[in-house]
Amino acid sequence: MLDLLVIGSGVSGLSAAVRAASVHRLSVGVVTKGVMHQSATRWAQGGVAAVLGDDPDSTDLHLADTLAAGVGLCDVDAVRTLVDEGPDRVTELIRMGALFDRDADGDYSKAREGGHSRARILHAGGAATGFEIERALVVAAHDTASMLLEHAFVVDLIVRDGRCAGVEVIDADGARSEIRAKHVLLAAGGAGQLFAVTTNPLVATGDGIAMALRAGVAVADVEFTQFHPTALHHPSMPRPLLSEALRGHGAVLRNTAGERFVDELQPRDVVSRAMMAEMLSADVDHLFLDATMLEDFPVRFPTITRNLSEIGLDPASDLLPIAPAAHYTCGGVLTDLRGATSLPGLWASGEVACSGVHGANRLASNSLLEGMVFGPRAVEALADVEEGLDGATDGPEATGAMRSLLAPTTGRIGGRPLVAPPPIASEPGAIAEPGEVRAAIQQTMTRGAGVLRTAESLDVAARRLDELAAVMPIDDDGLAWHEVRNLLTVGRAAVAAAASRTESRGCHTRDDHEARSDDWLVRQVVGGR
Ligand code: SIN
Repeated sequence: MLDLLVIGSGVSGLSAAVRAASVHRLSVGVVTKGVMHQSATRWAQGGVAAVLGDDPDSTDLHLADTLAAGVGLCDVDAVRTLVDEGPDRVTELIRMGALFDRDADGDYSKAREGGHSRARILHAGGAATGFEIERALVVAAHDTASMLLEHAFVVDLIVRDGRCAGVEVIDADGARSEIRAKHVLLAAGGAGQLFAVTTNPLVATGDGIAMALRAGVAVADVEFTQFHPTALHHPSMPRPLLSEALRGHGAVLRNTAGERFVDELQPRDVVSRAMMAEMLSADVDHLFLDATMLEDFPVRFPTITRNLSEIGLDPASDLLPIAPAAHYTCGGVLTDLRGATSLPGLWASGEVACSGVHGANRLASNSLLEGMVFGPRAVEALADVEEGLDGATDGPEATGAMRSLLAPTTGRIGGRPLVAPPPIASEPGAIAEPGEVRAAIQQTMTRGAGVLRTAESLDVAARRLDELAAVMPIDDDGLAWHEVRNLLTVGRAAVAAAASRTESRGCHTRDDHEARSDDWLVRQVVGGR
């Protein structure tokens, strides 16, 4: 039996795996449904927000910017942990071999992005930061982990005697087996594939959140999907991202009349909403990013330059067509500050988790940071349990985001229970193509639960998702069907949460409830009781 099984091979899962194996000498397995480097981390462009060394910037300012972007729903202790521990985790990554860009004086070069009051985003390869971090971590994981299992799909958690005891997997040949472990870390990423237009890779099907929901593990904040304002408007999927760092560098947004209409360095929810208003009033499906004034574009952003030139666009002379695209799942499996979930033995970190750092809207370039801070924190906590430290526990503690579950009325941010839609229980043998059902889910979510929502659009979406659940063949063990089942499970929970939250906050915008309400300074929690 493994000491630790990590599900997912992005920044959070691999930083945790490397630490558990190299610092604590635990036996560690990593399981991923694709190949090791094929995670959302690899696609992350902008960078990592962190205040290093004796910078005039401060972690207090980083904290304040993160809280402002999260619009009242961040957990302050979780954000404090993020900004204080982040710089050390970045330094460890650098020691592990990750190369961040430097300026002419040899100092780390720092970018500014939306919602940040200072330039504090470290980046690599211009806007290929995730690629570089993933490269360094995959090498380290190969050197340290006991087992790296690729093309193995985790179907469900095994729960025995009230704790997580491992997982059930299907391998590349379609054979089912169990992997037993003393501790399981869910680091399986988000659910961007719920939407028709997304920057997320095809593998981002919400598998971790869905298996947690099926196991009755507490999940929170699933109504908050962040839409990135500047995805290239182009048929390819996932949508190529035009990094927010471009705006930090001086690029501006223009409407169809060529006019600027928003402060481009506001947080993403604000910019995406302003874009939707422009697009609806002009009846168009895209607007423009104007980067023609950026003299050093090809040097500072070589990968974006390459991507644009492949489709015949020259940022020096062309306005770049853009539209918002689903980008980040702010909610997920509820954790305390150590990454413990409501199920003993199960830990969660990274995009799959709801640690409380993002609240209603994630601040740009805090996602890689969250992964590298909270994955290793979970390892420290579970290592304490393995080493028999006094008082060490792998159950949830009444700290951080977990307060909202354990003490709904007394926590700084309370929790409100939300009844999950019933489990998918369609007739065995019901037929439909998984690709068709997946596309129908994406269209439904985009129309009914996208950047703008109303009670009516959410009701239509809920009914359509229920109809789709009824054509799911529950006896089919194919990977494509499992992904569809997971998308439906997460999508139905997200729609229920969005319908229940009768206000607009962060990246949840209700056209029929435009104001923010103090009654909704709570996070909605599904399961866990
Ligand atoms: C970007 O480069 O705009 C994306 C980075 C992020 O999602 O934080």
